[in-house]
Amino acid sequence: MKKSLIAGIACLSLSVTSGAPLAVLAHPIEISATDNGQTTLRPLSSDVAVIAHRGASAYGPEHTLAAYKQAMTMKADYVEFDLQMTKDGHLIAMHDETLARTTNAKELYPDRAPWQVKDFTLEEISRLDAGSWFNKAYPDKAKTEYIGQHVPTLEEAIEFVKQHGNGKVGLYMETKAPSVYPGMEEKLIEILKKTNVLDDEKLFLESFSEESLRKLKKLVPEVKLVQLYTAKMLSGKDVYQEFKRISDYAAGVGPSKELVVPKFMEAAHQNQLLVHPWTVNSQDDMVSLLSLGVDGEFTNNTDLLVDLLDNPFISHGVASGDITDSSAILWARTNEKARVQFEISTDSSFKHDTIVKTSRADVEHDFTVNVNATGLKPDTTYFYRAHAISSKYTVNGSFKTAPEENSLKPLTMVWGGDTGGQGEIPPFNSFKAMSALNPDFFLFSGDTIYADNKTPAVPNPPSETVEDFWAKYKENRTDAGLRSLLQKTGTFAIWDDHEVTNDFSGPTQPLTPTGLRAFKDYWPMSSERSTEDKLYQKYSWGNTMDMIILNNRGYRSPNTQADGADKTMLGKEQLEWLKQQLLASDAKVKLVATSVPISIPTGKAMARDGWANGNQVNPNDPTGYENEFKQISDFIIEKEIKNVFFVTTDVHFAEVIKYDANQDGKTDYNELISGPIGAVKINPGTLDPTFGPERLYAEGNFFNFGVFQINPSKQEAKVEIRDENGKVHFSHSFQLEE
Ligand code: G3P
Ligand code: CA
Repeated sequence: MKKSLIAGIACLSLSVTSGAPLAVLAHPIEISATDNGQTTLRPLSSDVAVIAHRGASAYGPEHTLAAYKQAMTMKADYVEFDLQMTKDGHLIAMHDETLARTTNAKELYPDRAPWQVKDFTLEEISRLDAGSWFNKAYPDKAKTEYIGQHVPTLEEAIEFVKQHGNGKVGLYMETKAPSVYPGMEEKLIEILKKTNVLDDEKLFLESFSEESLRKLKKLVPEVKLVQLYTAKMLSGKDVYQEFKRISDYAAGVGPSKELVVPKFMEAAHQNQLLVHPWTVNSQDDMVSLLSLGVDGEFTNNTDLLVDLLDNPFISHGVASGDITDSSAILWARTNEKARVQFEISTDSSFKHDTIVKTSRADVEHDFTVNVNATGLKPDTTYFYRAHAISSKYTVNGSFKTAPEENSLKPLTMVWGGDTGGQGEIPPFNSFKAMSALNPDFFLFSGDTIYADNKTPAVPNPPSETVEDFWAKYKENRTDAGLRSLLQKTGTFAIWDDHEVTNDFSGPTQPLTPTGLRAFKDYWPMSSERSTEDKLYQKYSWGNTMDMIILNNRGYRSPNTQADGADKTMLGKEQLEWLKQQLLASDAKVKLVATSVPISIPTGKAMARDGWANGNQVNPNDPTGYENEFKQISDFIIEKEIKNVFFVTTDVHFAEVIKYDANQDGKTDYNELISGPIGAVKINPGTLDPTFGPERLYAEGNFFNFGVFQINPSKQEAKVEIRDENGKVHFSHSFQLEE
């Protein structure tokens, strides 16, 4: 029943350029029960095509009947033929224009270099051995049956698939080098007619040559045509315009796999073009492209893609977070209902002392799972791996536990925020640059999505349903750099406004519960933090640092309310908790992770969103939250709490500020600001003078992130601001007070 329902939906919304509604052409997949009905990052119909690239060419000699047979045994949906034409006008299945690489032509015809197909008759080619080369090249996959495999003609290949495909396997043919073989298109159509496959639903013709495809369009208007792309062919082109232009003849696009990013998917699916990337041979790449919503994949490893499509699998990577000296939260998501198993060990081969945890992925949480690994050793690197039970596909990760209490170990952390909105969509380079630093952990300082902005996942913002919010998180997890950072680095995620909507106040914003639900689903979050939606919590890195994570949205008064004793950003309880944490901390550094800045006026006039009221620009603006921040600032000074650093993002430029709020010439606390990672880039403005800020650095209009290092033995902390390529733009050391 399921399949027909989903197919029903698909046909409603889409018809490929040929006009015929899209029948089920391949592996049916669960167009997830949690789909938001508007994302362009999902297949156009309820199936994904397994296209056997040159046959099952990872396991047998490409373009031989043996490799085609294997592909069909492995349940490929299509077998792909590259076509060349012989001297006497016969179409054969072969990738290269020469016979040299995949046959024994050099031995059989030593004097016929460069052994171009167009220089040989079919009879001469029929004497070649097209299989032994594979046994020599891949001895571990060698088979005697490959010896003497011949070069198939197109008719032969078609008949072979018809005979062994049980009517389920489709044909996918490429006109290779059409400029070398005039009339190859006509010849091709002639054979398709002769073999009675021209009207088959499961037939695709593909080429890098637009001219060849337009010729085929004239010859057979109903047949589905796929325009292939290399990176070079697309460079400098606007994909939205390009795909609009080709959609008068093409039913799909076949890009080199690295070209596939959300923008590419949106441009293609907006023009009802199927997306079939090539050549995808690892399950990591297959999953990455499936998470982008491709409609099929060319692969040499038919079985690996079928395994993924036939079983639930880990679809958006894994992550670890809310790490302590003895525990870690592990996170994963599957593409449908499944039981997920985690193995955790200090031994990367998982042979010794392995902790096993399982959890059920269900629709309630968009198939995301969290498990709590406890009883861990401090200051230790742990390896973990996760897989959906019944799936071969396993994702590996690692994290480092915090050092034991009272120890003074060096620390390197990275922080960043503002990701995936205001016209910026994944991938974002900063994540790779962060990974390259092997940080101890990553602080994701809010705006981890832009729920209220237009992106391929939510083309019609704002996000309103939980499915919309989930779609946004999935969109950002299509970023391979982010996935790899989360896989190998413990992460602490905090929210800011765009996890719900711009400049929102939790208690009065109707979307808060929905946004919060999705935020908690998509980050590895401890129950201490998620219970009662508290989100604020302290984490220690031995005695080197206490990180006090705030929740700047959940308890705040409306931004428009005039500031005063009854206006709060943190809520009474959290404010008291913050003071207690600062007072009780005997760590070298107290880091306050806040999602809004102290003296940079943000939000709009009369509805300031950060602590500052911005009176230096609007003298009569009664809003902001300075009254409450003054309590925090005075408390730090009064209690002589040393080495306090406020760390944030939010303003979309980088800045480092020291504060002398009581004007006694001594720094009372510092503020470190980075960003954006991937959102609109802004230039710094003037600072609100209320708390005595002094700017050490400010730079705008570039993507960036921050690095914060503490070296307790040198009584030193250091901040760096690096751009998206990892280049240091600013570095400053702070001498820590005893
Ligand atoms: O046809 C898709 C893909 O196969 C294109 O590259 O060189 O393998 O034919 P190639
Ligand atoms: Ca090809």
